[in-house]
Amino acid sequence: MQISVKKCDAAVGAQIVFDLSRPLDAATFAALEAAFHDNIVVFFRDQQLSEEQHIAFSRRFGELEIHIVKKYLLPGYPEILLVSNVKNEAGEHIGLADAGFTWHSDVSYREFPSRCSLLYAKEVPHAPDGDPLGDTVFANCIAAYDALPETMKRRVAGLKAIHRYSSRRRVDNSPRPRLTAAQLAETPDVAHPVVRTHPVTRRKAIYVTAGECVGIVVPNGGAMPEDEALGLIAELDAHCVKPQFCYRHRWQVGDLVMWDNASAMHLAICDYALPQRRLMHRTTVIGDRPT
Ligand code: SIN
Repeated sequence: MQISVKKCDAAVGAQIVFDLSRPLDAATFAALEAAFHDNIVVFFRDQQLSEEQHIAFSRRFGELEIHIVKKYLLPGYPEILLVSNVKNEAGEHIGLADAGFTWHSDVSYREFPSRCSLLYAKEVPHAPDGDPLGDTVFANCIAAYDALPETMKRRVAGLKAIHRYSSRRRVDNSPRPRLTAAQLAETPDVAHPVVRTHPVTRRKAIYVTAGECVGIVVPNGGAMPEDEALGLIAELDAHCVKPQFCYRHRWQVGDLVMWDNASAMHLAICDYALPQRRLMHRTTVIGDRPT
């Protein structure tokens, strides 16, 4: 089966024209996977996927993560995390209402972080003039690494950053429940290379986020002084999210967007509020230990 790939006019991203509800033979899947690796963020418009089809397509890329915040898993489909500002009759959010409000790479706090995430738009908020709200911005951390001065490339070589889930910056009045003692115990600190090499393309990407990284381990195993470490993390994070490395996705209902968490960070823009409703279904594929 033929797929058509149209690159976005940005540092990252492409639209793939393909109906994901159709059977996917090995050759077509290989073409999709190659386009995904090439473009880092790919999107498919006008999809009509059942939960089973969303999960089945995601599973082609690997084992699925069951998100630690169990409250927001879709009933009957624990592989699907609800990302939503919608509330139920009891006035409680039905999904993570502040997912992605700071720059991050999904599940970087795990020893085996996510390979990729697949977000499927069920409801998209709109401004009174009809423009969509709640965009997602993606930063190409490979291009950002490539653009670093050689002195900085040498400085960060061999460093590891400590990722801590519980330190993820919360937005003001975050509706997200505090992590329980069991959830905290399930997410110990983990150190990943500040510059990781993609397991398939072998390209190097910056892999730190100011919202979640709390320190740096130097090659002999010691800790970099805290001020220096946080300064370096902030500098790298700010460098990655420069406009020249970013693509901003404007959502339409029926979009399925998938992104490579080993090569990109993302940020959800919160420029909407109820009664403007946003409802997304996310699957998250487990990846390799970063090297
Ligand atoms: C996420 O970080 O997975 C959510 C992104 C979004 O809702 O746009």
